[in-house]
Amino acid sequence: MRTQVAIIGGGPAGLLLSQLLHKAGVASVVLERRSREYVLSRIRAGVLETGLVNLMHEAGIAERMDREGFIHDGTLIANGNDQFRIDFKELTGSHVMVYGQTEVTRDLYEARDAAGATVMHECSGVKPHDLTTDAPYVTFFHEGAVHRLDCDFIAGCDGFHGPCRQEIPLSVRREFEKVYPFGWLGVLSETPPVDNELIYSNSERGFALCSMRNANLSRYYIQCQLSDTPDDWTDDAFWDELRRRIPEEAADRLVTGPSIEKSIAPLRSFVCEPMQWGRMFLCGDAAHIVPPTGAKGLNTAASDVNYLWRALVAWYKDGERGGIDTYSETALARIWKAERFSWWMTTLLHRLPEQSEFDIRMQDADIAYLQHSTAAQTAMAENYVGLPY
Ligand code: APR
Ligand code: PHB
Repeated sequence: MRTQVAIIGGGPAGLLLSQLLHKAGVASVVLERRSREYVLSRIRAGVLETGLVNLMHEAGIAERMDREGFIHDGTLIANGNDQFRIDFKELTGSHVMVYGQTEVTRDLYEARDAAGATVMHECSGVKPHDLTTDAPYVTFFHEGAVHRLDCDFIAGCDGFHGPCRQEIPLSVRREFEKVYPFGWLGVLSETPPVDNELIYSNSERGFALCSMRNANLSRYYIQCQLSDTPDDWTDDAFWDELRRRIPEEAADRLVTGPSIEKSIAPLRSFVCEPMQWGRMFLCGDAAHIVPPTGAKGLNTAASDVNYLWRALVAWYKDGERGGIDTYSETALARIWKAERFSWWMTTLLHRLPEQSEFDIRMQDADIAYLQHSTAAQTAMAENYVGLPY
């Protein structure tokens, strides 16, 4: 088999890259380890930056999002019973789109099917070869046979646990990591959201987030112990704890119901440098992880795809190699800013096990500054809606 760009991993990063390349007339093959059903069963955040919304338009997959997504012009921040709003529209002229990542992935699969794309599922033993030559290739097993995919470039879109990052020799690879000493317990329920906008809440009992998917589907999170399991939390215990962590007037309005999904996610910040080795480029979770506070996971994957897609198209259409050569540098410059923002929001809003009274006062002061300073709100808003590509 031969293609122009071999894409390892069929999550949102790999699929979006493949669709954008296709629109520009560049061929790709996507190799995914799991089944399509598995990929579509993963529930992730649902806040899209304008840059990603624009990419979805360029990729020709925005129709359902435009119809079913919700534009949010602001968000609410709470500290105990005190609550204030950050007005994205007024502060930045921009907004975010609330539309589930699972739906983005579904729309991408449909578009790839409609274009007759090759997306191979349940591939095992995927291994990139000869990355520092002009003729890289990938080997893998699929339906009982060994395959070889020759290509010009390889995109490592294989998530945090994928094999691509490990191909960058240890002598050049640097990894930066921060693991947070708590998790997020998330619940999805078929109930109307407690508010029209998201509520990020810092409380004495820990962080809580009120989010949503649509008018009758809510997504809520509470900070929990890393040792907790979803079975430790009955629905009633979850709702009780959530009510205690959000402002009273919101707690009074909260409509509860049975959970249709309940899971715990650990929080981590991680960056791999460089994001490129020879003819292999890393995109998305393969190269970096953010804690979910601020919803930058999918958005950072999209910004990598944006740079890589443009660089590859410039190479194929104009013989330009500038974008290819500087991909890692360009992508990382934006990634580190999103890492900073996610780390800051996480530190601002969570209770830490070792936190002193002084640390809590610092948090309170940081939140009060955000509440009363237009400069602080503008900085928060421009990061939340997404820094320019
Ligand atoms: N071979 C082929 N595919 C692989 C391999 C492998 N050895 N290892 C992992 N994969 C696949 C995974 O099964 C997954 O479908 O790579 C895909 C990576 O997808 P994501 O983990 O979703 O990462 P990414 O596409 O970078 O998306 C970034 O989406 O999933 C979220 O948390 C993620 O929010 C972040 C954003
Ligand atoms: C979500 O809706 O799942 C969500 C929203 C915002 C976040 C994280 C998760 O910061």
